[in-house]
Amino acid sequence: MIYSRIAGTGSYLPERVVTNRELETRIETSDEWIVSRTGIEARHVAADAEMTSDLALHASREAMRAAGVGPGDIDLIVVATTTPDMVFPSTACLLQDKLGVRQGAAFDVQAVCTGFIYALAVADKFVAGGGSRCALVVGAEVFSRLLDWNDRRTCILFGDGAGAVVLTAADGPGILRSHLHADGSLAHILRVAGGIAHGELRGHPFLEMRGGEVFRFAVQALSSCAQETLAAAGVAVEELDWYIPHQANIRILNAIAEKIGVPPERVVTTVARHGNTSAASVPLALDTAVRAGKLKTGDRVLLQGVGGGMTWGSVLLRWSPAR
Ligand code: COA
Repeated sequence: MIYSRIAGTGSYLPERVVTNRELETRIETSDEWIVSRTGIEARHVAADAEMTSDLALHASREAMRAAGVGPGDIDLIVVATTTPDMVFPSTACLLQDKLGVRQGAAFDVQAVCTGFIYALAVADKFVAGGGSRCALVVGAEVFSRLLDWNDRRTCILFGDGAGAVVLTAADGPGILRSHLHADGSLAHILRVAGGIAHGELRGHPFLEMRGGEVFRFAVQALSSCAQETLAAAGVAVEELDWYIPHQANIRILNAIAEKIGVPPERVVTTVARHGNTSAASVPLALDTAVRAGKLKTGDRVLLQGVGGGMTWGSVLLRWSPAR
């Protein structure tokens, strides 16, 4: 039996940091309101010339370095993004070129803030099925470009960034289980209902959200999905070493952790400094934990995402990096 395992991780955050204090000068809000409702203190925002594929490139190079692989080794690239550089080619194809990878498949996955979980689960199936030996899986976003920066209910929440992992074939796990879900009847609670047609912008090009409904949905969906994945793998919640959820709002994270019974010291949180970076949030948090030396070989780690669609899902893995 072939398993996939994460051989290396990487991440990238744009240089410019926008603090709550800076937002106070632009919209009617306060640092105190934002921190108490979301836990967010600051977020990174990409420079005008920086595209999603540029952020992805930095994160991918770091992940490849950590895994000890080069462009000649990568045989699959999956990029999760809601903010592709262009309608087509896919950001994965643009990244493939920037990395100098000349073989294998490359495609994007669109599941908004669940994007990385979807991409990782898809790449795992490729590796476990023998279709790939060395996959690059990336979550990258310039989400700041989907926001109405005058809308205080939404613009305070999000930021830009990228995270990447190299997934290689292995004799043992690696990835233990994954579960993916979607409910398209909830499309209206979180969306950017705009697009281009006949050379014109159609619809509303900014993020719209029913915050309270999204909050309640996220807590319910991720807590039941965590239980589903742990039960399917036969892992008790007490055996879980790290919980790395999508970084949307500290109150959402805390509510889920409490519901499933994970103590706060086993929850990785980066939302305070990154905000919600959509598809980038889980690999960014994973890489932050790896580089802080938190994850030890053999640790059981639960990754989770939830976002527009609505989409949600889990990946449970045993941490067994290269070397
Ligand atoms: N600064 C100051 N006041 C603000 C504000 C801001 N940035 N944003 C909203 N408010 C105001 C509202 O206008 C409202 O005022 P009113 O009572 O006079 O109408 C008041 O604060 C309370 O707003 P409410 O929406 O009830 O706050 P909340 O406690 O539900 O928190 C969110 C709002 C958005 C933080 C919360 O609903 C949330 O985090 N939802 C999930 C969002 C998310 O994670 N989305 C992405 C998922 S992938």
